[in-house]
Amino acid sequence: MLAQAIKDDIRPDYTMDQPVERYTAADHAIWRRLFERQAETLRERACEEFLAGLAGLGVAKDGIPRFERLTEALRRATGWQIVAVPGLVPDDVFFAHLAGRRFPVTWWIRKPEQMDYLQEPDVFHDIYGHVPMLMNPIFGDYMQAYGEGGLKALKLGALNNLARLYWYTVEFGLIRTPKGLRIYGSGIVSSKSESIYCLESASPNRLCFDLKRIMRTGYRIDTFQKTYFVIDSFAQLFEATRPDFTPIYQELRGLPQIPSGEVLASDLVLHRGTGEGWDTRPDA
Ligand code: PHE
Ligand code: FE
Repeated sequence: MLAQAIKDDIRPDYTMDQPVERYTAADHAIWRRLFERQAETLRERACEEFLAGLAGLGVAKDGIPRFERLTEALRRATGWQIVAVPGLVPDDVFFAHLAGRRFPVTWWIRKPEQMDYLQEPDVFHDIYGHVPMLMNPIFGDYMQAYGEGGLKALKLGALNNLARLYWYTVEFGLIRTPKGLRIYGSGIVSSKSESIYCLESASPNRLCFDLKRIMRTGYRIDTFQKTYFVIDSFAQLFEATRPDFTPIYQELRGLPQIPSGEVLASDLVLHRGTGEGWDTRPDA
């Protein structure tokens, strides 16, 4: 993916200028198709905060947006900014960016044959999936705290626990609203098929948010989730994650990982999944 010419322009913090001249007409067309599909799919499925963030950002359907323009709206709303990166960056670099309210965005877009699923983030996932929620003050604070917590978890050797929290909230979180369950997770909103599956399929479990439980739960990065965790509000999420995790990491150390599809007697179950169609390979 990375041409040498581009590689040379990557700064030590892994950021680069968005190479807007490299987008082809076909790239912009993929953005348009993804955008239009999701507008339709998410109208009644994404939470209000996500939809408001998307509208406020002015992310358009006409093509891959210029990050600078989005950063202007973000700065005004919550002080966040977008920085372009070549793809996944090392954990410490990622956390340091989040702690500084900079969200790293992969600049390139998927190929036409990857419309429904790809395992690494591209510009559609990063912009459309993550950036609208950064327009929300509470969620923006949560993401910054996550970055600070990440730097700490690295030192404490507890990255596994913290990564699961990211997975089950930022990437695959659901929220309970007066209108029913809604999506806020970025990995869901950037996928049409999972947007429908996570709310409407009988297969997956839908369990109430439980911090320590999540920190012990394995996950799969290559298929739909077997379990989704549901928060009641972003304030609940922020409050639950405010305490120092150091003693929690200690308590969890040595406890076995909970398989991603398992339901425990202690879980608050909103829906017990039928498990139909589940993949039997082990979790990551
Ligand atoms: N409170 C956490 C800690 O002490 C930091 C954190 C906040 C982590 C929010 C994740 C999300 O590590
Ligand atoms: Fe993501």
